[in-house]
Amino acid sequence: MKLWGGRFTKATDKNVEAFNASIQFDCRMYAEDICGSIAHATMLARQGIISEADKDAIVQGLKDIFGQIERDEFDFSVELEDIHMNIEKRLTDAIGEAGKRLHTGRSRNDQVALDTHLYVRREIAAVAKLLVQLQESIVKAAEKYNDVIMPGYTHLQRAQPVLFSHHLMAYFSMLSRDFKHLGFAWELADMMPLGAGALAGTTYPLDQPYVGKTLHFGKLYDNSMDAVSDRDYIIAFLEFAAVLMMHLSRLSEEFILWSSSEFKFIELDDAHCTGSSIMPQKKNPDICELVRGKTGRFYGHLMAVLTMMKGIPLAYDKDMQEDKEGVFDAIDNLKFALTIYAAMIDKMTVNKEHMRSVLESDFSNATDMADYLAKKGLPFREAHAVVGKAVHYCIEQGKVLQQLSLEELQHMSPLFEADIHHYLDIETCVAQRQTYNGTAPSSVARQCTDGKQVLATE
Ligand code: ARG
Repeated sequence: MKLWGGRFTKATDKNVEAFNASIQFDCRMYAEDICGSIAHATMLARQGIISEADKDAIVQGLKDIFGQIERDEFDFSVELEDIHMNIEKRLTDAIGEAGKRLHTGRSRNDQVALDTHLYVRREIAAVAKLLVQLQESIVKAAEKYNDVIMPGYTHLQRAQPVLFSHHLMAYFSMLSRDFKHLGFAWELADMMPLGAGALAGTTYPLDQPYVGKTLHFGKLYDNSMDAVSDRDYIIAFLEFAAVLMMHLSRLSEEFILWSSSEFKFIELDDAHCTGSSIMPQKKNPDICELVRGKTGRFYGHLMAVLTMMKGIPLAYDKDMQEDKEGVFDAIDNLKFALTIYAAMIDKMTVNKEHMRSVLESDFSNATDMADYLAKKGLPFREAHAVVGKAVHYCIEQGKVLQQLSLEELQHMSPLFEADIHHYLDIETCVAQRQTYNGTAPSSVARQCTDGKQVLATE
């Protein structure tokens, strides 16, 4: 029954068969395998390597198999190891002799490379759409909440006030880099390996440019040994995915903190949270925790493929069968995470009043007070010290800076004048930061406008 059984005299050990098989997971590449085979058979006929009649029988047979798989009428068999041999065997059973000519000038090594390229390339396009959708949700939220001021943190200690939109748009910027990263993975995936054969090319006059064009590939591989043993496009995708998940994991951490009773900055929609089986009051941000938690397995997938590749000699080695499960798992989880996060941002509620009110009771405007003195001529280091003392004084008095009287302030530095209270206003602190990428409303509006322009071109 084995398509390669000729030189064997014994049946394969059942455990070996089960361990060796990849059909359990590579069956998801059936559409790619069929498209690749149709392109290959069509090219073989154009080149006079097989007859038109054989080609027609092959194409029809493959289309029938596609229908059977789509309708769930196809039994995948572990004995036939992988998707390539399952389909080829079924084709031969259905159409006879012609089916046996399909594999002319082809090896499973270039076939699996082709299928995986096609699959990853298709999924890159799907992931790119979802990534853009998430970025759209972020800009939309940034514009919707453009009057919300929140504490900005460093070391998770209140640092300086920022626009909530500014904080959100930081994630937009990260995702823009992810998009570029994904573009690089696409570039590497957009190469056509068929025609490399097992490793050395083939003895038939194949028309590789034709197959490349039919399957909409941008480039052919320059070297057949590289073509069958290159998995850089998978690594590039997993690198992209690992970094994107790192970004989403940081966002998850913020959503978890912000939606806690301690912060109360946002509330996630009921549809995106879960409850507790024992504590009736609970509304848990499980999805955020899962995205944060699943980031680990993305790093694992990347590390697994990098490690799998590092010691194998050219060209194809069976180790490479291990390239697929991680990338499939990454694609599935990424699509969920991106879809849910876009909806979560669309639907969350933002507690503007509360975010604003916490800023009334802290020292987030201390830098502005030091800047005030420095702008009046005091060296910044000295201004820093004056304000440090003022903060210390306030803590002792149970006050905040804006509650100090002009008299108290002038006692600390004669440079303080009546306008200091205006400069300690949280709104002023935000509005004053007009540097190109600062948190002033004008700068954040510019970020949103530029962001939308970038999205329109993606
Ligand atoms: N199932 C294999 C894989 O995923 C297909 C290629 C096998 N080629 C071979 N010569 N064993 O890599």
